[in-house]
Amino acid sequence: MKDQFDRIEYSAFIGNDESRGAHYAAVIDALDLKNGNLVSILDIGCGSGDFEVLLANKFPHLNNILAYDPQSVQVSEAKKKSLENVEFVCCSTLHFDRDQKFDFAVSILVLPYAETQEDLNDVFAVASRHLKPCGKFISVTYNPDFDPDEEQILASRNFERLGLNGLGVKFVDPENGGVQFETKAVQHGANSYMAAAHLSGFSKISHDVLYLDKNGARMSSDNGLIARQPYMVLECIK
Ligand SMILES: C[S@@+](CC[C@H](N)C(=O)[O-])C[C@H]1O[C@@H](n2cnc3c(N)ncnc32)[C@H](O)[C@@H]1O
Repeated sequence: MKDQFDRIEYSAFIGNDESRGAHYAAVIDALDLKNGNLVSILDIGCGSGDFEVLLANKFPHLNNILAYDPQSVQVSEAKKKSLENVEFVCCSTLHFDRDQKFDFAVSILVLPYAETQEDLNDVFAVASRHLKPCGKFISVTYNPDFDPDEEQILASRNFERLGLNGLGVKFVDPENGGVQFETKAVQHGANSYMAAAHLSGFSKISHDVLYLDKNGARMSSDNGLIARQPYMVLECIK
């Protein structure tokens, strides 16, 4: 599962993806950057750096962003974007260690690729170790209560249940319905996230379902069944 992002197709698809926009918007809301706050950010599993492009364009005053990913193909793509205020590093979570503390750590659709509880614990541990006191870890991940309807295309994706807690995700071109890319992910339970967060010393932990319409745009919670919503935003304060 670890190597499924070691290819260019993923960044090509995701660069134009509507619901990834909703994921990023939700993280930006949680970062509370709108009033010009100068904060430092660690992006865990940055992929090809699309979130950093968005940050650089919308918040050019931010000058302390470090983003890493274990896949060299993704990091090379990210570096090509030549963002002045972002350092991109190719590194695994197991080996990432900097003598630097951040206001925020973020991870966007990375936790579902932690295959075991131990892998999940490692990501939370890196986040916690690199956060200042009261720093916040914000993560977009799969909603533990999501129950995929395999007949339905939701937010340009078709989800299928694989075994007990696996999710097969087919990324579908909204224009012609063709499958562009497939991933296998883990739909971790709420208890797994809680356990990882507590173990890493986070005190306050909260999560909110990210309500999207069938096209992947954000919508009000009143219109959505929790079981039909794939994503949630997890926030942990150190
Ligand atoms: C779905 S992509 C998301 C990339 C990026 N966050 C974005 O929003 O476009 C998942 C990324 O997580 C990375 N990844 C998987 N497991 C990881 C881990 N344990 N630690 C850090 N990154 C990981 C993969 O290499 C991949 O680039």
